[in-house]
Amino acid sequence: MIIRRPTDIASSEITPESVYLNRRTFIAAAGVGAAALAAAPAGLRALGSDDPQEVPARFQGMRSELNESLNSYRDITAYNNFYEFGTGKGDPSDNAGDFKPRPWTVSISGEVNKPGDYQLEDILAPVTLEDRVYRLRCVEAWSMVIPWRGFPLYELINRVEPTGNAKFVEFRTIVRPEEMPGQRAAILRWPYVEGLRMDEALHPLTLMVTGVYGMDAPNQNGAPLRLIVPWKYGFKGVKSIVSIRFVEEMPLNTWQQENSFEYGFYANVNPEVDHPRWSQARERRLPTLFQNHPTLMFNGYADQVAHMYAGMDLERWK
Ligand code: MTE
Repeated sequence: MIIRRPTDIASSEITPESVYLNRRTFIAAAGVGAAALAAAPAGLRALGSDDPQEVPARFQGMRSELNESLNSYRDITAYNNFYEFGTGKGDPSDNAGDFKPRPWTVSISGEVNKPGDYQLEDILAPVTLEDRVYRLRCVEAWSMVIPWRGFPLYELINRVEPTGNAKFVEFRTIVRPEEMPGQRAAILRWPYVEGLRMDEALHPLTLMVTGVYGMDAPNQNGAPLRLIVPWKYGFKGVKSIVSIRFVEEMPLNTWQQENSFEYGFYANVNPEVDHPRWSQARERRLPTLFQNHPTLMFNGYADQVAHMYAGMDLERWK
């Protein structure tokens, strides 16, 4: 996309996430990785060392549940949407070097029995990080297959005990214009805001992400903590989260706030509901140039998530 007006953003390049790799599959795939490791050239052996631009050895041979190969570390970390660092796909990797993801505090507030300012270390202490391969389908109609590292959001939610009034969860990105050059301009109304209905937030596929390819995520991917909801367009995956608020009313998320004609709250990947300015039926799987990949309903997760939207008009609740 060449647009650069804010309203054009999450537009023609959405990323669906795709495949959820359960632990069993992951372990099996890791076995393949180990075999590949033995045969791999020396330069690929050390995860994140010699050449992190290539697929790290431990992940070689790993596929998504739909038997897709993973995008390279380079694709995942050099082609990003993170308007706080600029609107170009290369801006986040070029401009995020001064951002400091540690120390990090997340405010948990609203309809919850255990509100407070939680240090990142305290959030991570009781959880086990796991690697999950998901397809990321951007609303702009590009997609990637990414091995995220993180933990299910429900583990954090259960710890802080939402009250019966909590119907939605609202997430906010940090505002730090001195470290985020995009925030020095009115590209969007800062902070970036996203939200989920409580059942979506508690769904086992919904992930709080700390890394990619088994390593801490670089700043451009939303360090140190971001959301990934694999059946929704990529813009739901709010990055560098500093606030999680439990609320009764549906939050007004950033893209709906910018352009409610084109974007809604749910943003479920749906090949049958076109964006007002382009079709969502197909996608461009990076690094290819062609939109030759069919987009799947709920990004391929329909069997696990469609029940949450039974009876809803998905054209209206886009
Ligand atoms: N979060 C914030 N704070 N700012 C953004 O501009 N872009 C969203 C989402 N999260 C965005 C954001 C969009 S449009 C997409 S497609 C994904 O991040 C991209 O995530 P990735 O760069 O890790 O692939």
